[in-house]
Amino acid sequence: MQTHEIRKRFLDHFVRAGHTEVPSASVILDDPNLLFVNAGMVQFVPYFLGQRTPPYNTATSIQKCIRTPDIDEVGITTRHNTFFQMAGNFSFGDYFKRGAIELAWTLLTSPVAEGGYGFDPEKLWATVYYDDDEAAQLWQEIAGLPSERIQRRGMADNYWSMGIPGPCGPSSEIYYDRGPEYGIEGGPEANEDRYIEIWNLVFMQNERGEGTSKEDFEILGPLPRKNIDTGMGVERVACLLQGVDNVYETDLLRPVIDTVAAIAPRGYATGNHDDDVRYRIIADHSRTAAIIIGDGVTPSNEGRGYVLRRLLRRIIRAAKLLGVDQPVMASLMATVREAMGPSYPELAADFDRISRIAVAEETAFNRTLAAGSKLFDEAAAATRSSGKTTLSGSDAFTLHDTYGFPIDLTLEMAGEAGLSVDELGFRELMAEQRRRAKADAAARKHAHADLSAYRELVDTGPTEFTGFDELSSDARILGIFVDGKRVPVVAHHARVHSETPPPERVEIVLDRTPLYAESGGQIADVGTIAGGGSGGTSRAAVTDVQKIAKTLFVHRVNVESGEFVEGDTVTAAVDPKWRHGATQGHSGTHMVHAALRQVLGPNAVQAGSLNRPGYLRFDFNWQGPLSEQQRSEIEIVTNEAVEADHEVHTFHTQLEKAKAMGAMALFGEAYPEEVRVVEIGGPFSLELCGGTHVHNSAQIGPVTILGESSVGSGVRRVEAYVGLESFQHLAKERALMAGLASSLKVPSEEVPARVANLVERLKVAEKELEKTRLANARSAAVNAAAGAQRVGKVRLVAQRMSGGMTAADLRSLVGDVRGKLGAEPAVVALIAEGDNGSVPFVVAVNQGALDAGLNANQLVKALSPAVDGRGGGKPDLAQGSGKNGSGIDAALDALRAEVARS
Ligand code: SER
Repeated sequence: MQTHEIRKRFLDHFVRAGHTEVPSASVILDDPNLLFVNAGMVQFVPYFLGQRTPPYNTATSIQKCIRTPDIDEVGITTRHNTFFQMAGNFSFGDYFKRGAIELAWTLLTSPVAEGGYGFDPEKLWATVYYDDDEAAQLWQEIAGLPSERIQRRGMADNYWSMGIPGPCGPSSEIYYDRGPEYGIEGGPEANEDRYIEIWNLVFMQNERGEGTSKEDFEILGPLPRKNIDTGMGVERVACLLQGVDNVYETDLLRPVIDTVAAIAPRGYATGNHDDDVRYRIIADHSRTAAIIIGDGVTPSNEGRGYVLRRLLRRIIRAAKLLGVDQPVMASLMATVREAMGPSYPELAADFDRISRIAVAEETAFNRTLAAGSKLFDEAAAATRSSGKTTLSGSDAFTLHDTYGFPIDLTLEMAGEAGLSVDELGFRELMAEQRRRAKADAAARKHAHADLSAYRELVDTGPTEFTGFDELSSDARILGIFVDGKRVPVVAHHARVHSETPPPERVEIVLDRTPLYAESGGQIADVGTIAGGGSGGTSRAAVTDVQKIAKTLFVHRVNVESGEFVEGDTVTAAVDPKWRHGATQGHSGTHMVHAALRQVLGPNAVQAGSLNRPGYLRFDFNWQGPLSEQQRSEIEIVTNEAVEADHEVHTFHTQLEKAKAMGAMALFGEAYPEEVRVVEIGGPFSLELCGGTHVHNSAQIGPVTILGESSVGSGVRRVEAYVGLESFQHLAKERALMAGLASSLKVPSEEVPARVANLVERLKVAEKELEKTRLANARSAAVNAAAGAQRVGKVRLVAQRMSGGMTAADLRSLVGDVRGKLGAEPAVVALIAEGDNGSVPFVVAVNQGALDAGLNANQLVKALSPAVDGRGGGKPDLAQGSGKNGSGIDAALDALRAEVARS
């Protein structure tokens, strides 16, 4: 049966049953959370949620759907398509489970001559959500399905949502058994290639909230009405009704494969699996690309455009790897139009545009590939002439990085050239690049990637820094930049609408400024730039200052009122409170550095530092952690030097002279001929430094070392609070101690002894508790053994144990019980509601039962689904854990049934 006919029968069936036929929505709906429409129900979401009143009570549609998360699976499995057609019927508070099951069953099993699909009812299976007795019952009643062809499954398989907040509910899926040549039996639970899902009936009754996976999201509550949402995979039904092996060979996809096979040196289905996958990729992606372009997407580097670009490029590569050396896109698009046009007239109507866009991407990508091939030939020749047979990882990396060559293409080309490729080296370089990109992104506070715009100003000379002597200076605006582009003027924008785009990156360069630019570990000053036009009321807040080419200070600003024009005279001012804190932080850093060297010696060499108001950190080379005593000594030396109220003295001198005086400099840093030296307490602290400092050390205030930690091999870090922050930190600790003392009802100084005493008593109590637990477990074992039932020739203990038992408890118990049951065939299954909502279970089987053909592993598989669990083990002892305590009884029932069957 052709796809066109399958679609028609579906719609006719539901229209006959009173449904309104609704056309497919575009694959792009106005929902930023949803890249593409991925289910038939998407256009109906407001009806399900009760936000809008549907103009009909029941509807039917065949929706164009795109799902791209599984893109790498395409062609490898037989059932993944990035584009597929979902046939669905929907009830908005009209019929519910019974109606949905009846309607689906009739269409699937009615004879072809009577308008149905004519599936053999004996080959159909159903799954239901594990506690959905009603649906299971309906399958028996309506379809006459025997209970062993109705499987119960958990959240991941049988609870449907869009993957984002919206309507959701338990589902029931219909599967078709393709027969033993497709794999082991045991229903969909055992094998989803042999048992292929064709239809999903969702009993849409709840609303879901945010979540992290298919199994983990909040259910916000019931929907206003009970609804039905079903989705039948048209491609999968076509695959079955056309008797082909996989969806790629159905009537709408196969022509694409044939188009490629006509021009490729190697054919389809000639025994080369890799080639077949490539053919299927081309067939699947061509169709998806045409549909997406048809709905208005063009190739780009982000979002939907990126998905499209990726699809098109994967087609081109797959064709190359098949050995096709001519452009393919135009003929692929034409084939898609022929196959799909009858159902999707928009593809035919808009064909020229669709084809033009796809072909343009192919042309551009082929240019890149051609340049890369040239490089490849050179690299291959160089490899051979140096007597090697392996293309280096770095060549493969360059091909990937510069020319977009995927590694499989390089491998293929190398293979043809009689070479292998250092794949490991390639992967290391890729990983290295990813690490670098991450570090770069973190380090680059300012997107000054393109410095050319600032070049002219850098050339006019350095910004004069006035901030050592004053906190406010008059200055002239030399340049204004918005998003890295030079502009003559920038004005305040009132944000009238909430959809006004976020503010751009606005920067101002002045001829002189008192605002310190981040350097030497000291972060930038904050402050204001004021004056300018509009009668002097213009104002901008300076949020950051960075240096370009070490000389040009660039102020990042938010324009709060008025406007700024290049050439204006303005007043730039530092926030005095901020600066006070910044000087404390920076001078504090010098003090900690000096104290550290005094305590640890000259090997504690500075490796980096960062300071801001109230806080500092200092990294230094040192092996192993500091002792508590060293840490405390450093703190004491620092605070004594603060207390001594040393004068802070700064001066300029020749680099050589400063070094001769013993001034600390950062190893590897390039210093100018003339340097600035900051001296605190004479020889106590002498450093080359361009930062801002207090005048006297007492101004730093108390310094509290917070801790010391490792930041990489051989590098340690101390962190400290200074000034008021330091005091506040100590006050908080004092309050904490007072709270502890009061809850322990002892004076503060007795807290340590009291806690030690409590810990000791707790240990004793835990031992006692353990003894009692063991005794309880032993008597539980005796009771359990006594409660054995007889199921056939087997003695069965299937019990729910008291709460809080761990898997280890159950394991030891299960052995005890089994021991007490003697040599007759016996099975012991124990299950408990453990801690944190876990549901541990263990099944043991004795030799007699093993001989009778029972297997603990199988029994665990039988009981797990009802508690949403997984497990396994050996034939005589298997265990697992579930997540759903309310299914324990059902799990035990399932186990009993399984034992009875054996
Ligand atoms: N929404 C369900 C699915 O996509 C049924 O239509 O599977």
